[in-house]
Amino acid sequence: MSEHSGSMTVMLVAGARPNFMKIAPVQKALHKAGHRTVIVHTGQHYDDRMSASFFRDLDIREPDHHLGVGSATHAVQTARVMESFEPVLLETRPDWVLVPGDVNSTIACALVCVKLKEETGTRLAHLEAGLRSNDWRMPEEVNRVLTDRCSDLLLIPSQDAADNLAAEGIDQSRVVFIGNVMIDTLLDRLPAAQELGVPAQMGLSPGRFVVATLHRPSNVDDREKLKTCLAGFAAIAQDHPVVLPLHPRTRKRIEAFGLGDSLAPLRVTEPLGYIEMLSLVDAAAAVLTDSGGVQEETTALGVPCVTLREQTERPITIEQGTNRLAPWPLTVAGIREAHDAAIRQGRVSAGECSPEGWDGRAAERAVDALAR
Ligand code: UD1
Repeated sequence: MSEHSGSMTVMLVAGARPNFMKIAPVQKALHKAGHRTVIVHTGQHYDDRMSASFFRDLDIREPDHHLGVGSATHAVQTARVMESFEPVLLETRPDWVLVPGDVNSTIACALVCVKLKEETGTRLAHLEAGLRSNDWRMPEEVNRVLTDRCSDLLLIPSQDAADNLAAEGIDQSRVVFIGNVMIDTLLDRLPAAQELGVPAQMGLSPGRFVVATLHRPSNVDDREKLKTCLAGFAAIAQDHPVVLPLHPRTRKRIEAFGLGDSLAPLRVTEPLGYIEMLSLVDAAAAVLTDSGGVQEETTALGVPCVTLREQTERPITIEQGTNRLAPWPLTVAGIREAHDAAIRQGRVSAGECSPEGWDGRAAERAVDALAR
């Protein structure tokens, strides 16, 4: 513990786009409770639209440390984060390091932290612990399993995560249910998103367009699979506009595979800021995605979602929420069919099918767990 009795120093790690909305509410809740935070940005994502715009939209203060690792192969990216994070941890020696999600920055900082534990006394907490796709080919699954194994405190977003961790023999005393911190951010920013009115700015009528996102290596790194997804979106675009904010990885692959023409039927945009994306998704008839976070956001908003993957590490969004898997392997007809079913299902009001603890107070529960 730090000099002030009862006050802790918590180092928050963020590296890639899906991390920023998770650390934002935790940072605020820590400050409110009188604790000190140190923000480390690994620089895994570095473009303004993939990173800085989120800091602005979510009121996250400037990082205290910027590691600037950038893009590289998995080994090089992970190694660079480890190499540059080690001196920062040794210098700061916080009470806790908090790593969110499942990106390469998460496992890299987790490994550094656990290996220095004897020396620094710093404990490791994993935010969004216990999710499992059971698909070991996914880099994120490897990151999730190993980060959980290294962590002193596992903060879980849904009860299914507790079963996954128990099945791996992880001691239940390390596991604390807090709910979903991403939904804290969503509920906080929803009024601003609705006021922004991105659909109207784009000439789209609420409930009469679809939003699609695509970036998983398993969908975009193979030419035929990527072509199938884009053709599926084009088939849907015959009914209503399909907006596709294009991830940099996907844009690069489309160019490399010569698939530029497949984008013609779609409303392609640059990656959107957090509030812009929320404004669009909230007013969509349905969303097609291979993102993890979007599956949760659509469930919280009550918007039907089709997940373009073989399985999901977020099954609660299917059991309780608005999510469904497209038939696997993906085909144009299968994507179309799953979209039609989602449209028939229709939307429900925000919060109507939200799982327990997706209530805007998950970050407060995270702080309580760290302080205990
Ligand atoms: C990473 C995460 C993934 C997460 C996704 C969200 C891992 C293993 N994967 O995948 O879990 O869902 O982020 O976006 O950590 N690029 C840019 N600008 C940027 C960032 C990336 O142009 O700001 C380009 C890179 O040059 C690279 C590609 O996008 O070619 C992929 O970036 P990378 O961070 O390696 O993985 P993502 O596919 O984004």
